[in-house]
Amino acid sequence: MALSDEDKCNVKEFWEKLGENTNVYGTEALFRTFLSFPATKTYFPHFDFSSRSRQVRAHGKKVADALTLAVNHLDDLPAALSSLSDLHAQRLKVDPINFKFLSHCLLVTLARHHPGNLNPEVHASLDKFLSYVSSVLTSKYR
Ligand code: HEM
Repeated sequence: MALSDEDKCNVKEFWEKLGENTNVYGTEALFRTFLSFPATKTYFPHFDFSSRSRQVRAHGKKVADALTLAVNHLDDLPAALSSLSDLHAQRLKVDPINFKFLSHCLLVTLARHHPGNLNPEVHASLDKFLSYVSSVLTSKYR
């Protein structure tokens, strides 16, 4: 699952181009996930899912910040995401399939906003990155 040096470089360079917009993309990706894969909403029984939902926005920012943290720790991802891994796998018990749904929606969102920066190589590196993050966050799932 480890990323090659080229993958790491692609992911870091791409992420830098997102600037301050990561929270907007995190939120859009979440809205897309909840709409396209409604079963994911069952993990958020306390959320309002309307288009104005402050909860989805706040959560989109948290997800985006966690991904930025991951981009900054590509060499020690399991350690950097250790407490998030405990949360998702052991406390929330999020079924791993849901990470594929969110990752798909993240890629769609990023491609929509940055078509010129998402050539096939960057696409492949981002896909590997999101798979790596997902595998870390589900590694303690039983
Ligand atoms: C790229 C994958 C993901 C990342 C980076 C991520 C990140 C986060 C972060 C940073 C938090 C907040 C932790 C805190 O407040 O201490 C969180 C909470 C949570 N996550 Fe994830 N998450 C991911 C995938 C998922 C998926 C696929 C689901 C389920 C469909 C999920 C369900 C939840 C739930 C239910 C909470 C608690 C929300 C609340 O009570 O407000 N996460 N996640």
